[in-house]
Amino acid sequence: MRDNLTITTCSPEETQRIGAGIGEQARIGDLILLVGDLGTGKTCLTQGIARGLGLPDYTPSPSFVLVREYQGRLNLYHIDFYRLNDIREIAELGMSDYLNGEGICVVEWADRALDLLPPEHLLIRFEYLTGNGRRLQFEPRGQRYVGLVEQLKGKWNLR
Ligand SMILES: Nc1ncnc2c1ncn2[C@@H]1O[C@H](COP(=O)(O)OP(=O)(O)O)[C@@H](O)[C@H]1O
Ligand SMILES: [Mg+2]
Repeated sequence: MRDNLTITTCSPEETQRIGAGIGEQARIGDLILLVGDLGTGKTCLTQGIARGLGLPDYTPSPSFVLVREYQGRLNLYHIDFYRLNDIREIAELGMSDYLNGEGICVVEWADRALDLLPPEHLLIRFEYLTGNGRRLQFEPRGQRYVGLVEQLKGKWNLR
């Protein structure tokens, strides 16, 4: 798809830099969905997003915590469905409070609950390449996110 963007990174630092670029462009209400196997770099990218948002004291949440909230220029609601046992647990999280909160939502393992999440979002698929290589595929859904990916392409000189 024309609106999509594929990026290859070769180190955790590089993935964090990509995340920082996203954090810098983020706007209140943004929803970023991260999909990919364990260890492909979803949390690493989220660390970069936190840096881009200017969050001073970000430390990744232990994976048994479903939602962590960080306060900054915009808040970061870091949601991780890795330990989700039952999709009904999501109802108890009060997702709409985060989606309509004073910040952005980043959701790891979003594919476990895609039907329960808003249809407009930026989906990023993570894949292993050899060694420390990772492929990140950006799939924007909705005008806001097509625009965001366009901005990122400009920022990274990919046009
Ligand atoms: N290019 C890369 N991008 C991101 N992480 C990488 C990369 N190369 C190696 N790594 C390593 O892979 C692991 C990614 O872990 P993490 O971000 O927690 O993955 P996930 O959240 O997808 O399970 C880290 O140990 C990191 O150091
Ligand atoms: Mg993770």
